Amino acid sequence: MLPSAAMPTETIAPLITAEALSQRIGELAREIRYDVRDEDLHLICVLKGAVFFLADLVRKMEGAVSIDFMALSSYGSGMTSSGEVRLIKDLDYGLEGRNVIIVEDIVDTGLTLHYLQEILLARGPRSLRTACLLSKPSRRQIDVKIDYIGFTIEDKFVVGYGLDYAEQYRNLPYIGVLE
Ligand code: IMP
Ligand code: MG
Repeated sequence: MLPSAAMPTETIAPLITAEALSQRIGELAREIRYDVRDEDLHLICVLKGAVFFLADLVRKMEGAVSIDFMALSSYGSGMTSSGEVRLIKDLDYGLEGRNVIIVEDIVDTGLTLHYLQEILLARGPRSLRTACLLSKPSRRQIDVKIDYIGFTIEDKFVVGYGLDYAEQYRNLPYIGVLE
């Protein structure tokens, strides 16, 4: 049978279950709260991939927490980076004097995060830390500081739990490898 245009040609091999995500995110929430003690936290979600991570992370966090959103683009619709980062949506609030945590879905080459850390540091936060759900260290092109990492993974293209391939699969409750 010939494949029809509407039929997805990719298959997804499960990598990180919903339960493992939930447990690890709980640990990260406690670790972050422990590090900043009882001070206010301001979490910045990088759209769209980090949206579920942010939502689960803040709901597991105690104490005063505020959130804001930012959108960047470093990829087209495919699997390879263009190497160029663009700011698509800026934050609603300033960062002066705040304990800021960047919340990212995945660090691959590191170019996006490096750009983000530079522009946010220039806004005078009291502290700036980064939490990434996933990291692919073998793909790094630039040395970026990541304070909290959910899972370190191999060089495989992953989808689900916010991560997409051509805007698809973000809604999967787990993370899988696109094959
Ligand atoms: P970097 O600038 O190369 O570190 O790329 C970071 C961005 O690329 C992430 O925030 C994702 O949006 C996207 N990305 C990198 N690797 C993957 C992947 O395996 N699946 C889905 N998106 C990815
Ligand atoms: Mg992203």
